[in-house]
Amino acid sequence: MSTTIINHPLIKNKLTIVRNKNTDSKLFRETINEIAGLMCYEATKDLKTTTVDLETPLAKTTGEALATDIVIVPILRAGLGMTDAIHMLIPHAKIGHIGLYRDETTFEPAKYYTKLPVVKDATVILLDPMLATGGSVKASYDILKDAGATDIRFLGIVGSPDGVTYIEAVCPDMPIYLAAVDEKLNDNKYIVPGLGDAGDRLFGTK
Ligand code: PRP
Ligand code: URA
Repeated sequence: MSTTIINHPLIKNKLTIVRNKNTDSKLFRETINEIAGLMCYEATKDLKTTTVDLETPLAKTTGEALATDIVIVPILRAGLGMTDAIHMLIPHAKIGHIGLYRDETTFEPAKYYTKLPVVKDATVILLDPMLATGGSVKASYDILKDAGATDIRFLGIVGSPDGVTYIEAVCPDMPIYLAAVDEKLNDNKYIVPGLGDAGDRLFGTK
């Protein structure tokens, strides 16, 4: 599976807004959500549809409906910032949650919460704006695989070269969609230039 960088002018413009350290929490939250909605269009373009019968006010006809169940899974906390826009576009989707935080010294993800609907036979859209070392995405992928998921796609916003290389290697059946792959990780495993701590900026915790 390969990584797709969604190079759309609207996304590039919005990425500039969220990268700016002077963007306040309200605009940051709104813009992260808007980017997620735009990216969802690309990340779902191969979803299967099935033919359904219906009647318009004028005639009988057929239409197409999504053929698989959709499960949206934000990685807490920052993935929550991408969830509403995608749920608005796919309102019948179910939502699972995976709670992880990155240990500040080892940078390893620590699990604190998992609540998933049935994921077997569903298309799972895994969300986290930041793909830094990739530890959080790998831990989430493992949780979803253990729960029976077979169709998982990861939707992030900014990735690091190391994180992308790692996830491509250890989650070979999971497509990755990002708005940008940045230059590097710093000594604290933050993406540079990145956009800072996404969870803190979304929820005003710093
Ligand atoms: C951040 C971010 C990702 C993770 C990325 O979460 O939202 O989940 O770090 O880093 P990784 O690729 O090296 O695992 P954090 O642990 O800060 O938790 P938060 O979202 O609750 O702030
Ligand atoms: N988590 C973030 O929120 N930002 C980074 O750059 C890395 C991890």
